[in-house]
Amino acid sequence: MAQVLQPLEGIYKNDSYPDLLVGLGEPDDAAVWKLDKDRVLVVTTDFFTPVVDDPYDYGAIAAANSLSDIYAMGGSPFLALNIAAFPPKLPPEILGEVLRGGAEKAKEAGVVIAGGHTVQDEEPKYGLIALGFAHPDLIMTKAAASPGDALVITKPLGFGVTTTAIKNQKASADHIQEVVIWMKQLNNKAAELAQALGVKGATDISGFSLLGHSWEMASSSKVGMNIHWEMIPFISAAKEYANVYSFPGGAFDNMAYFEKNVEFPKSLTEEEKLLLFDPQTSGGLLFSIPCDELDNFMAQADKKSQPAWVIGEVAEGDKITII
Ligand code: CO
Ligand code: CO
Repeated sequence: MAQVLQPLEGIYKNDSYPDLLVGLGEPDDAAVWKLDKDRVLVVTTDFFTPVVDDPYDYGAIAAANSLSDIYAMGGSPFLALNIAAFPPKLPPEILGEVLRGGAEKAKEAGVVIAGGHTVQDEEPKYGLIALGFAHPDLIMTKAAASPGDALVITKPLGFGVTTTAIKNQKASADHIQEVVIWMKQLNNKAAELAQALGVKGATDISGFSLLGHSWEMASSSKVGMNIHWEMIPFISAAKEYANVYSFPGGAFDNMAYFEKNVEFPKSLTEEEKLLLFDPQTSGGLLFSIPCDELDNFMAQADKKSQPAWVIGEVAEGDKITII
């Protein structure tokens, strides 16, 4: 995240660390460190406050989300540490359930959690520090989108509005179940499919929303994007909760920060625009796929039951245009 890294500027010089392939320059999903000619180390961390009431699901979602940044770089995660904050008055069984949810999700991903650190804090927080390996030729970055590429996402949107409805006790049981299933899903299969076809442009959609993360990719790649409103998938409750303005504060922050880079058609309502700025906890991947690989990718995704939606294309320019 660019704002977080700003204080590091001037302390660390990019060219003093030739083995640091990704990290100090353009912001990306994870740092990449070259080990030898066949391997790079991919390192990331993420943690957040509870997004659902069930402690096990919260742990699993936080772990899936933390590992997502490794997949977004084309890495295979193998090792992680817990990072947690917990109110002293909460029963220890609850923390146990959070950590169990995280560990079982990590195990599903082939990752061993080998320790960690917990502190006391008023508001619970949980996530992972995760490490992965990748082949240097197969890493995927935000800087590799080219005009003509198709833009593909692998999870629908609407997680922020729906989890905010959960927080406000306005969400129905089936809507909760739907969003939890999506947020718990690992991004491993989607990343493997893309890598097998040599896709180089990727990121994951998380707190900065579809448009925030798309913009990061567009600006790193020095391109524009066209995104087609009617091609964007949403979970079933997204529009219903958007209509009652169940947006988390982050949606408004994202809009304020990224709106200047986006051109909207007059026909879109404020709620519809906000849905595109809605923070996605453990959202899907966003790929920039060369046109001649697209049919192949969609066919492979279909065969492996990996959801994927084409939502637009990379264009020349320096704006995201919603069509
Ligand atoms: Co990311
Ligand atoms: Co992240």
